[in-house]
Amino acid sequence: MAESIRVLVSEEDVDKKIYEIGTQISKDYEGKDLHIIGILKGSVFFMCELAKRVTVPVTMDFMSVSSYGAGTISSGIINIKKDLDESLQGKDVLIVEDIIDSGNTLYHLLDILKKRHPRSIKICTLLDKPERRVKDVKVDYVCFQIPDEFVVGYGLDYAQKYRNLPYIGVVEGIE
Ligand code: IMP
Ligand code: MG
Repeated sequence: MAESIRVLVSEEDVDKKIYEIGTQISKDYEGKDLHIIGILKGSVFFMCELAKRVTVPVTMDFMSVSSYGAGTISSGIINIKKDLDESLQGKDVLIVEDIIDSGNTLYHLLDILKKRHPRSIKICTLLDKPERRVKDVKVDYVCFQIPDEFVVGYGLDYAQKYRNLPYIGVVEGIE
């Protein structure tokens, strides 16, 4: 069977939800500056849309991490491929992720970033697959909870493809 994409969350619904979450974040951080950290590459599309909806002053930084091992299963230990450019000391930090699956990536990342003395640190994710959780991580903002299916689009890839889809879809016809 050839690969095909079934729409799970439409472009209109994604954009609407990001607007709502952005509004909520603006309220929660009123009077503060927000330092947003995007986890490359998957969170980039979401991060840009979200940042545009936040009305408090925003600074941005990026980090690239990978879990060891291949395929669609996260192995549990992370490798920092690109570290942040700036210090987190005294900042109100929001980590922006594309998806939380096993929770392994964020669990280890939080551990690393908390040691850099931010004033506060919260997590915002576009997607959450709670059924697959192995590590307990507290997620502060979730746009959509989704079932245990492999999804692409809005930054998420399958073998580096489909990141640029403006909606979230399920890849069909893969093993
Ligand atoms: P974790 O299992 O929570 O550590 O998830 C780590 C990473 O796996 C995510 O940041 C994604 O890059 C990737 N991932 C997990 N589920 C999916 C999916 O359904 N589609 C695309 N990437 C995924
Ligand atoms: Mg990721």
